[in-house]
Amino acid sequence: MIAALFGLPDEQREEIIALTYSLANTSVTAAEVRRTRQRLSEFFRRLIAFKRGQLGDDLASALIVARDNGELVSDTELIDMLFMVLSAGFVTTTGVIGNGVLALVTHPQQLHLVRSGQVPWSQAIEEILRWGSSVANLPFRYATEDVEIDGCTVRRGDAVLMAFHAANRDEKAFGPGADRFDVTRRHNPHLSFGKGPHVCLGAALARLLEQILFNPGHTRQP
Ligand code: HEM
Repeated sequence: MIAALFGLPDEQREEIIALTYSLANTSVTAAEVRRTRQRLSEFFRRLIAFKRGQLGDDLASALIVARDNGELVSDTELIDMLFMVLSAGFVTTTGVIGNGVLALVTHPQQLHLVRSGQVPWSQAIEEILRWGSSVANLPFRYATEDVEIDGCTVRRGDAVLMAFHAANRDEKAFGPGADRFDVTRRHNPHLSFGKGPHVCLGAALARLLEQILFNPGHTRQP
């Protein structure tokens, strides 16, 4: 889906998938990470050169045009933006697919509630996103000012790890059954797409994709 949105040629898909997963792998050496970063940069330089020759109605072309119009300030920003949207667009959604399938097959009664129509798929998907989100933690956030949270002061400049998965199991927000996979949950203010100015850009697309995947006949469902 994301490759089609990007207008990425079929033969380049495997390479970018492998590079992205390699970058997310926490058991590789620092030297391997540097090599992967280098290869990613080369990949995108090649992609940009290729797309420039045949701009189309796709996201990669739109970002290249934005760079040419000066809306993106440098080639580095263009490459980072291409990588950000491309990688954020498939590692996350595929993770939720796996976690969702696992949640449903290990909770047959919950699966029955959705398959029998007693619970709408849209509601079950929100619960899959809450209980089995693919972005458990997000590093590299820094406080821009001193913040007091629950008696703890986060100082300006401190690094913050956003623990979305923990927030999604918070009993204060989801009640005593917060740890349970429960598709009947109607009030579901999960943080799987983050919150605030950097809330996930692709949340609507991701929800649509999960609907189509888990329930291909979703358009017939109210
Ligand atoms: C189920 C699938 C997805 C999940 C769980 C997910 C989750 C997230 C999370 C937790 C963030 C960080 C929000 C924050 O910093 O507070 C984020 C940001 C982002 N996501 Fe997603 N995402 C998904 C799908 C997608 C898709 C399909 C796309 C692209 C088409 C996408 C593009 C982005 C981008 C570009 C950002 C950065 C936004 C910014 O920093 O302003 N995501 N996503």
